[in-house]
Amino acid sequence: MNKLAINGGPMAVKISQPHFVWPPKSDKKEKKVLGLQRDKDISIKGSSGPILELEQKFKKFLKNKVKYAITFNSGTSALLAAYFALGVDEDDEIIAPAFTYHAAISPIFILKANPILIDVDIKTWCIDPNLIEKNITNKTKVITVVHQWGHPADMDKIMSIAKKYKLKVIEDCSHAHGSKYKGKLVGTFGDIAIFSLQANKIVFAGEGGILVTNSSEYNDRAILLGHYRDRAKNDVINDFYQQFWFTGYGLKLRMSPYNAITAIYSLCALKKRLISRKKCLNYFLKKLKQFPEITVPYISKNIDMGAWYGFKPLYNPEKFHNIPREKYVEALKAEGVEIKIPQSDSLSTLPLYTLQENKMFKNRKNEKTYRIGDFPNAEYLGNRGLSLPTFTDWKKSKNIINQYIDAFKKVNNNFNELLNNSTKK
Ligand SMILES: Cc1ncc(COP(=O)(O)O)c(C=O)c1O
Repeated sequence: MNKLAINGGPMAVKISQPHFVWPPKSDKKEKKVLGLQRDKDISIKGSSGPILELEQKFKKFLKNKVKYAITFNSGTSALLAAYFALGVDEDDEIIAPAFTYHAAISPIFILKANPILIDVDIKTWCIDPNLIEKNITNKTKVITVVHQWGHPADMDKIMSIAKKYKLKVIEDCSHAHGSKYKGKLVGTFGDIAIFSLQANKIVFAGEGGILVTNSSEYNDRAILLGHYRDRAKNDVINDFYQQFWFTGYGLKLRMSPYNAITAIYSLCALKKRLISRKKCLNYFLKKLKQFPEITVPYISKNIDMGAWYGFKPLYNPEKFHNIPREKYVEALKAEGVEIKIPQSDSLSTLPLYTLQENKMFKNRKNEKTYRIGDFPNAEYLGNRGLSLPTFTDWKKSKNIINQYIDAFKKVNNNFNELLNNSTKK
């Protein structure tokens, strides 16, 4: 076999980059609608036009299992609204996974609540339900669940713990549009669910988020947190909350109509994209199984991967002559593979979660701070993950995937060159 590309040999991947471009380009119709909106209304104060259409379509996508849907300018804003809607308050404790994107939890700091991080399941990357109960105290208010990379968390166990201890559940479905747990769509289990619609997501607005719930009280409170005037006046139901319609609670976190239009078009394309992404990633996964140095993403029984937001196999250096992950990734990159070390890591590595002093409120200390070593599984995953494209176009991607597999094979066969290469450095 040829010399590795990292050592001057020919590249295994012949198709030129980029191999994965997301979000997909708009079609003529979407462009036209975006243009028309420019002269119709570029600031929707109530729920009308594309804002209303997106919210209605989103409820339909969730099989009308949720009564209310509220758009926001980001998933992070929707999360802040979710915590606020549930009444999260000073010193409340929020149980949440130690490995995820920080924004699933970080908005609680502004409400002066405390995160109680829990290690994740090493197979699914989701919060480990078996570790939740021993962390519940009389301050616990919410369990936050993230369906990490699109794999649903163990909702049966989580919902039964929540019921037993009368806790609220927020589902962060930002990675999991269309994922199902035992046949039921994620976003329909908890008290509130949110979906980020940021550009990298399979349903994308550019920047945007959406909150869904069946509770009129949570709906009222979430509206008031991020919307005022028309939206609050028209949609807040409860008389007490209605009196705040003019001001809301002082923030304006609403979505722009342009973002709503883009989200509507990507939501309409979702079904097709889900099928195609699954076909690509299942094919890729099967082929990757031949390499002992790789652990392919785990998919439990009774789940449907939906958006499959991240494709993150693990790299096992002990099965590959202890060649470091960085070197392995460098070699594959040189072969032409679009691979990187994921940016996400255990939250126990981030200052917001590790510093005792609270930067936002000078006289306040974080109740609990975290250190490296606290979450063995989260850190194991953080140290071993590989980030590969979430291919979505089967026709274009099949050949690329085959060439990627050639690149993995080449690196696997020529491990000696990497050993020499790493000793040279
Ligand atoms: C799990 C999760 N929650 C929340 C967010 C925040 O969403 P946004 O970027 O729309 O604010 C993200 C963003 O990637 C995410 O991955």
